[in-house]
Amino acid sequence: MSAPRLGITRRLLPPILLISALVAAACTFLQGRQEHERLKWETRQRAIAAADTLRGAIEAVWPLDQPGQLHALLDRLRDSAAALYTADGARVAGSSNLPEKFLPMPGIVRDAIHTNQRTKGIETDNQRWWYVQALPVRVNGAVRGGLLFLSDLSPSEAAFPRLWRQALWRVGLPALLIALLIFLIIQRSVIRPLTELMDWMRRVRTGGAERSGPVPRSGIVAPLTREVTHLARSLLAARLAAAEEARLRHQGESRWTPERLNAHVRTVIQGRPLIVVSNREPYMHVRQGKALRYIVPPGGLVTALEPVLRACSGTWIAAGTGEADREAADEHGRLRVPPEAPRYTLRRVWLQPDEERGYYYGFANEGLWPLCHITHTRPLFRAEDWTHYARVNAKFADAVVDELAGTADEPFVLIQDYHFALLPRLIKERRPDARIALFWHIPWPNPESFGICPWARELLEGMLGADIIGFHIQFFCNNFLESVDRTLESRLDWEHFAVNRAEQTTLVKPFPISIAWPDAPAPTTDEASPRTAIAERLGLTARWLGVGVDRLDYTKGLPERLLALERFLEKYPEFQGQFTYIELGAPSRSLLPRYQELEAALVSETDRINRRFHTKSWTPVVFLKKQHSHDEILPFYQAADVCLVTSLHDGMNLVSKEFVAARRDGQGVLILSQFTGASRELRDALIVNPYDIEQMADALHTALTMPPEEQRARMARMRDMLQTHDVYRWAAGLITELANIRLEAKISSAPTREAE
Ligand code: F6P
Repeated sequence: MSAPRLGITRRLLPPILLISALVAAACTFLQGRQEHERLKWETRQRAIAAADTLRGAIEAVWPLDQPGQLHALLDRLRDSAAALYTADGARVAGSSNLPEKFLPMPGIVRDAIHTNQRTKGIETDNQRWWYVQALPVRVNGAVRGGLLFLSDLSPSEAAFPRLWRQALWRVGLPALLIALLIFLIIQRSVIRPLTELMDWMRRVRTGGAERSGPVPRSGIVAPLTREVTHLARSLLAARLAAAEEARLRHQGESRWTPERLNAHVRTVIQGRPLIVVSNREPYMHVRQGKALRYIVPPGGLVTALEPVLRACSGTWIAAGTGEADREAADEHGRLRVPPEAPRYTLRRVWLQPDEERGYYYGFANEGLWPLCHITHTRPLFRAEDWTHYARVNAKFADAVVDELAGTADEPFVLIQDYHFALLPRLIKERRPDARIALFWHIPWPNPESFGICPWARELLEGMLGADIIGFHIQFFCNNFLESVDRTLESRLDWEHFAVNRAEQTTLVKPFPISIAWPDAPAPTTDEASPRTAIAERLGLTARWLGVGVDRLDYTKGLPERLLALERFLEKYPEFQGQFTYIELGAPSRSLLPRYQELEAALVSETDRINRRFHTKSWTPVVFLKKQHSHDEILPFYQAADVCLVTSLHDGMNLVSKEFVAARRDGQGVLILSQFTGASRELRDALIVNPYDIEQMADALHTALTMPPEEQRARMARMRDMLQTHDVYRWAAGLITELANIRLEAKISSAPTREAE
């Protein structure tokens, strides 16, 4: 038994035993006394009845002509004695066992004769205790004498110890047993879980995550366990963060953490407001029965920005598109998030259905999206979509200005993505003091491609209202600067990568976005490994697993990926029955025909390939079409031998980075399209051209036959890179750059930064 349990047991056992003993004693006493009284009462009732019977017999034979008859009657008495006296005190007869003391008429008989009433009492003859009755003997209504009737109390007194013993067995002992049983129950369901929890917490305190073992969850302390687990996890995370800080200090490296970003941003923005604007909100509320529930939408933007807002606080303005969004917000559309531990404000902007159709589905996703991604999907430009796009940008400008009303000068506004090309200019016109950055999360095409947009000029004018425009990579910056050069009157400063126009200078810089480097793992539980759990859940028998995690978008190269899988199985038949690919595909923009076509094509291609190769126990492709949460995706990353990212064109692609971050074990291979921003950083991935099916099939073969040491070496280099280039560094870079802009310089053409 562990020391704490022993301590608690020692403290609890004596009082429980003492109380049980007292309860048992009290019960025994009460029960014994009751039995005792009952026996006494019965003895006396019997004595009274016997005395009455004797008196009746005497009165019947009065005047006692045959005294021998009377003696014989009295001698038949057992455990009793009797004597008969005349009214003047002479003893007429007496039983042979009558104690000497009662030979002369006792006073009690005299009293009974005088009062004509029965008199009772207890007396002793120094040998026994007697219950004494004196009864007047009446003949024809007149008192003729007195009867003394003695009942021996010794037999009933002798029964009392037996009665007490019985009471002890019947009541005292069960009471003691019940008390012990209660103690055992407390021991099992409270003391034991509590001490296990204490042991576990001590291990956490002294040994860390690895040594803490599984969290005890039994007994009525289970709810407490949950709370304590959270607390312990925070403690572990804090300790690991501190250890990591120490390690980094020691190494002189500069790793960014939420705490460091928070401190940095506070120094840099000096109490001025921080606003983030995006179309997609970080939390969407939906109804589930009567309850409100929230979901985190898929996509890189939310993945990247949410940790930054958590670290820096501020306000995130976004379109409220969840079916229950209005119910979860106040009358201004505001609510504090994350819902379970609020750190910043989410301000929802409400869009009419026709606005959402024209601005989001139409201009943004049927126009700009295919325009910026070179995937041979033709952009659609409709005048009414453009009108809605402009109107919604103005609506968001109102929301930003409204949030900034009455706040300090020079607020920081970080605008996200291609939904808001017009927003920087609209805000700048109304708040010239605002420091505005626009980050474009998708590629920027070459000037020829961009030039087909009927509103190219308006888009660039709007964007150049920002002080900084950020892209993921330098290549997109160059494309943008060339597009400006071809479209607008401006002076390009290729030395500083800036656009100078009459009243505004805009820096155009790469800020490769990233992910939040994951905290220390939660203390492991006795759950099965991700690989075993997934195989069991999906009924998989294959030796090797591949995974892909995508929004179902035509830019992600999904049909090409399926063709490559098919070619791989064809070309390397030894992997048939041995390799299964799992696609976690989140439906996206499903109102648009192009996306509906894609979903249908993926389903039918998956079916075709499965029909072609499957066996009784093996399915080559598993297509899980639903939005998976980060927690649901993580085990797939951890279980996979290979992760496939085959985008035809992608600004960055954070799935590739999430996969690397998830592989603490150093194993697993990343196959990455050369047309992603991430391929510039993750150079140890197997870089492929997604249009080259043969090359992708070979890359898959290389990945699955790569020796573990090579996997580890590649993974270690990618992890090192990502660990120091996380989203906190990205945010710090963008915000620092924005803070360094000299606003007054914007009316001149002088270089615009105070410091490099
Ligand atoms: O990566 C581009 C992007 O628009 C992101 O801004 C967003 O996170 C993602 O695609 C998801 O798209 P949507 O918001 O249209 O679902």
